Amino acid sequence: MAILVTGGAGYIGSHTVVELLEAGLEVVVIDNLCNGSREAVRRVERITGKPVRFVQCDIRDRQGLDALFREHAIEAVIHFAGLKAVGESVGKPLEYYENNVYGTLVLCQAMEAVGVRRMVFSSSATVYGAEAPVPYVETTTRGTTSNPYGTSKAMVETLLEDLVVADKRWSVALLRYFNPIGAHPSGLIGEDPQGIPNNLMPFIAQVAVGRRDELTIFGSDYPTTDGTCERDYLHVVDLAVGHLKALKAVEAPGVSIYNLGTGQGVSVLEMVGSFTRVTGVEVPYRFGDRRPGDLPAFWADASKAAQELGWSAEKSLDEMMADTWRWQSANPQGYAE
Ligand code: NAD
Ligand code: WQD
Repeated sequence: MAILVTGGAGYIGSHTVVELLEAGLEVVVIDNLCNGSREAVRRVERITGKPVRFVQCDIRDRQGLDALFREHAIEAVIHFAGLKAVGESVGKPLEYYENNVYGTLVLCQAMEAVGVRRMVFSSSATVYGAEAPVPYVETTTRGTTSNPYGTSKAMVETLLEDLVVADKRWSVALLRYFNPIGAHPSGLIGEDPQGIPNNLMPFIAQVAVGRRDELTIFGSDYPTTDGTCERDYLHVVDLAVGHLKALKAVEAPGVSIYNLGTGQGVSVLEMVGSFTRVTGVEVPYRFGDRRPGDLPAFWADASKAAQELGWSAEKSLDEMMADTWRWQSANPQGYAE
């Protein structure tokens, strides 16, 4: 029996496939490569020394999914596939709802048809909305999301919860990630955003490697220790390990929700300072306007995952910086070379 990983050619998916294979599990990857790379899958094979079964298919393609489930005996699905750019989602709501919500719906229907009813889903801290008290705790109800991307994650959470209510055989883990960064310590796989990076860490890395002139820090007058926003950055390998642990949680029916974060807030200025201290590479920056929709500061209460899954983030901020730089400096253009 194998684990089906949707979006396994992407950033978090590829790191998770490494952990699954290294734990001795069988894996099938499905990805339409709209934001992932075939090369990432080849590099996962290099890291692990194991072949990866890869199927290029869209999760909205029901016939393709049916064929996949016929061909491979799947016991559970880790579902990463989807679109993730917050800003882009504002201009393309239909694409986001179709990929993220309809795509999940089709995937669940195909799973139901073959009696595979275990899913680990990539949700996001964004579902807490703007009003939730910090640190975010899983018992806080979902808040008002401020963009179609965030709303699509909240909608999928609702969809999966309703599925479990309707059919007690379903088992779902909703993993609410905070800010994953870093790369595999081998330097072979990492984050490879297309175009101008939306997120802080890849932007810093691209400035450091000379692909961009300077970082703009969005806002310097937030009510935080140094005026810049604070986030809970966690190492992508820790996050990947969290999925392995969550597979245990979906052995029992029902819905479980887990924050995956470190429990620590780190400011944008601290991120820049830490990168330079660890790598020795200066990152020129200037302060710009606040980015619409940014919250001043949030981080996880990560105690539930520790208690119930035995998972805690173990890697330090220094390791996140060192591993990001190993990946970026060895692959200045990402997988494109
Ligand atoms: P990513 O874009 O690197 O990976 C997503 C993968 O899904 C890509 O390889 C893409 O080609 C594939 N994909 C997209 N739509 C598809 C479809 N319709 N059919 C098949 N494949 C499809 O993103 P990531 O950073 O690895 O994120 C993985 C998941 O985690 C996403 O669902 C994302 O929303 C969620 N998430 C990410 C973050 C983050 O900061 N990176 C935070 C919280 C949640
Ligand atoms: C972090 C901090 C920016 C870029 C987003 C999504 C969220 C989740 C993770 C998927 C903020 C600042 C950034 C730059 C900057 N994704 N920044 N200059 O906004 O916490 O979360 O990614 O679920 O849903 O909203 O992460 O990396 O974009 O920003 O100053 O060029 O860095 O203002 O304070 P964010 P981020």
